Amino acid sequence: MAFPQNFLDELTARCDIVDVVGSYVQLTRKGGNLFGLCPFHSEKTGSFSVSPDGQFYYCFGCKKGGGVINFIMEEENLPYPDAVRFLARRAGMEVPEEEGDREAGRRRQRLLELNRDAARFYYQLLQQPEGRAVRDYLERRRIRKSTAVNFGMGASLDAWDVLLNAMTKKGYTKSELLTAGLIVDNKRGGFYDKFRNRLMLPVIDTRGDVVAFGSRVLDKSEPKYMNSSETPVYSKRRVLYGLNLARKSKRPNIILCEGNLDIVTLHQAGFNNAVASMGTALTQEQVRLLSRFTKELVLCYDNDSAGKAATEKALQLLGSSELSVKVLQLPLQRTGDGALVKQDADDFIKNQGADAFERLLNGSENGIEFRMAQVAGKYDLGSDESRVAYCAEISGLIATLPGAVEREIYTARAAETARITPDAMKLEVQRARKRLLNRENRAALRKELNPAALSQPAERSLRYDNIRSAMAEEGVLRLLLRDDSLFPPQPPLKEEQFSSPLLGRVFSLLWQAREEGRAIALPALTGALTPEEMSHITSLCQRPESLKNGKQALADYIAVISGEWERRTAGGEDPLAAAMRKNKYKNKSGTGGKRNV
Ligand code: UTP
Ligand code: MN
Repeated sequence: MAFPQNFLDELTARCDIVDVVGSYVQLTRKGGNLFGLCPFHSEKTGSFSVSPDGQFYYCFGCKKGGGVINFIMEEENLPYPDAVRFLARRAGMEVPEEEGDREAGRRRQRLLELNRDAARFYYQLLQQPEGRAVRDYLERRRIRKSTAVNFGMGASLDAWDVLLNAMTKKGYTKSELLTAGLIVDNKRGGFYDKFRNRLMLPVIDTRGDVVAFGSRVLDKSEPKYMNSSETPVYSKRRVLYGLNLARKSKRPNIILCEGNLDIVTLHQAGFNNAVASMGTALTQEQVRLLSRFTKELVLCYDNDSAGKAATEKALQLLGSSELSVKVLQLPLQRTGDGALVKQDADDFIKNQGADAFERLLNGSENGIEFRMAQVAGKYDLGSDESRVAYCAEISGLIATLPGAVEREIYTARAAETARITPDAMKLEVQRARKRLLNRENRAALRKELNPAALSQPAERSLRYDNIRSAMAEEGVLRLLLRDDSLFPPQPPLKEEQFSSPLLGRVFSLLWQAREEGRAIALPALTGALTPEEMSHITSLCQRPESLKNGKQALADYIAVISGEWERRTAGGEDPLAAAMRKNKYKNKSGTGGKRNV
């Protein structure tokens, strides 16, 4: 992606990393660096650092790092060139585009325009006589006109090419319609509309773009719901249905349901803080997204075994996040013949009304209460044997709570449930806690005792073949980045002397910057490295490196690298290993993941 280097240098100079990151993450100064809660993984204590001097960020928890462009790529889910454009707009700079690049950006924009036009088209059909079947369906589901408008609902018709024709007339190509997932290839040279005779639910992201569609059939046929497949503008892991509306809600939390129409009914009943994850389990990306708009999440999954399993999974995922979590359990419903069946939020509101839902919402339990009830439900507490088994399991669960007060409160509750004395239960929990801590300590110790594993890059594909040389190579890069005046005018090493192709490549890139009189800094590498490579290079800059004996350290590093290099090339290396190394090198440069500056 060839943006001119001087433009990129000016862009990174104008977009101070502290300002940019600071508009997403609350940062507090600690010494020379700033710290905050990592936006890329769930955590309660800040391990995310920003270095104003080095102009990079690094998370000691999830080990992601890089310059300001990397941050925007990750946070805004943009490919490199779009992240550059995003920052340029922010800094009020014009982007010197090459035709090819402008084209890629335009294609993305076109796709969003196409989605919007398609949404408008479906919306208009819903108001017209042809939209009758869908309007009747909305009426059967008691969805009001104003609600349908609020969600931008539409109708697709019982025909094969209505959308195809309308969008082609507007100037969109078949290839664009295919990429957007709006038409399907019949494999005989023809195309037809993907969505037919359905209620259309546009999926709108938090920037207000129509990124995809959900849809529902009007009868009992299958598939009930059909959603857009993944496209260049839609990744279902990163979107929540209804969040475009829920983000503006004045309510103190966000309610997460399973179904799109649950959300619609909830909004209509005044719960305009409801969102749905469209048929997928809650993802890390969605948790991150949610935590930008709320501090509390209420899980409102179906009250059946699948829903409970999904709740448990979500609780585990949310356990380490700063979001506080509650579980709203919908009661089962008694049918005419006396059987108990599950009801979803939509059913519940229709059966019991909004006030009843409000009461459930207020009474929803926190995560540990839900889990404790699940455990209790597994045992018949009438028999002594199961009471013993219950105590063993529940003490293990309570032991995982980080707070002593919390542990004490739930210990007392569990004792009541098991009908034993609080002291006996306390003892059980203490034992379980000790076992847990021991296990954690042993795991940490094992890691510490294995320094070779510790120095390996987190990313498997970047593993070092020669740790000794690689550690010295890292040292050279660290020194070059901290103080390039330690270096002679000529490069002291050649790229091929590096045992790690990545470190060798970075050395060459930095040296090139030096020869061109540009700043030698991490952020300048973004365009040439993959995000994983960039994270790794940022991580090696976190290791301490004293500049006091910089000259000597540099000489030592160089000696190690050239020594290892000689050993490898002077036939000291086993020919098989040499062949494998070469091979690996070849594969690596063929992965296409990296970009050339
Ligand atoms: P449910 O089948 O529980 O739907 O699927 P629901 O919302 O209660 O449906 P109604 O009330 O009959 O209309 C929950 C969610 O799972 C996804 C949809 O997003 C749906 O809203 N889903 C379901 C699919 O993606 N495909 C399917 O075939 C079914
Ligand atoms: Mn339903």
